[in-house]
Amino acid sequence: MMTKTKHHHTEQYGAERRTLTRWIAGTFAMAALAAVKPASAQAPIVIQFSHVVTAGTAKGKAALRFKELAESRTGGKVRVEIYPNSQLYKDREELDALRLGAVQMIAPSLSKLASLSGGDFEVFDLPFLFKDRVAFRAVVDGPVGTSLLKKLEPHGVKGLAFWDNGFKVFSANRPLQWIDDFKALKVRVQASKVLVTQMTTLGAQASVGPLTSVYEALRSGQLDGQENTPINIETQRLHEVQRHLTVSNHGYLAYAVIVNKPFWDKLPSDIRTALEGAMRDASTYENSIAGAENTKALERIKTSGKLTVHTATPQELEQWRTALRSVYKDAQGWISTETLTALNALNGPPP
Ligand code: SIN
Repeated sequence: MMTKTKHHHTEQYGAERRTLTRWIAGTFAMAALAAVKPASAQAPIVIQFSHVVTAGTAKGKAALRFKELAESRTGGKVRVEIYPNSQLYKDREELDALRLGAVQMIAPSLSKLASLSGGDFEVFDLPFLFKDRVAFRAVVDGPVGTSLLKKLEPHGVKGLAFWDNGFKVFSANRPLQWIDDFKALKVRVQASKVLVTQMTTLGAQASVGPLTSVYEALRSGQLDGQENTPINIETQRLHEVQRHLTVSNHGYLAYAVIVNKPFWDKLPSDIRTALEGAMRDASTYENSIAGAENTKALERIKTSGKLTVHTATPQELEQWRTALRSVYKDAQGWISTETLTALNALNGPPP
């Protein structure tokens, strides 16, 4: 069920979180029982890697690449189990599961890390922030990226890498060209105050909920529209339940690969070094395919004939950009001055 904006950070996930806590308590009880059995000398270290998109996305493919590299380079001393497409946990659940040690590795979108950084990860959600992929990489591969990942550590979470997805587009059941077209539309966004503010500034009603519920909510008419990257739209089949898509490239979606810090710190150092190398190479692979995956997905969406695709004109984009400038000012209320200043120094002033 999608939940209205007002309670977006807590209510929609409340029931899921209670169930998860019970489930995890059970898992720990079983783990405690298992611990009393003598461990076999060859038992591999298991890394459970949970994510919410399909195995066919850049993230899904890179998770598999990490598994192959990690297992071969440790000579089988590590086994990586991948659980794609919210098979184990939905959006916010997976972060709780990671912190509690029920899984060891996840790769959530940066928007979903706001709760562990005093809101600073939401900086990446600012509309029209990056002019291209290179500008995004310059920020995450430099001191801003390093200092943001450091903010996770007091929460028992260690950041290993930033993975790209790409620029987001909008879809709805009406054409979206000018600001007025957004009026009163119920649009799904991820749980980020910046994204909620973006939608309300456009005159729409923001609705926050997990990715896995979006298809059904659009199909049943609970939602009118959504924003995401072409590869996420295609693999979740959202284009099949929408009539119009606007290529707006108005925001960027990317990920941090993060691990349970106590688990990571306790690994034998040779294993940890091998895993760091595997992650470096899997990340290079992910970041090299994400752009092309989205271009191909957009082409397939266009040729599917399921919906009308419009590329926003420079005039339309100028109207959106002007209207959304106020979001930068609003975000100063919850994103630290330190992060905003460091970002501006690297990326230039807001658009
Ligand atoms: C993801 O790409 O991992 C999910 C993004 C979303 O929730 O829309």
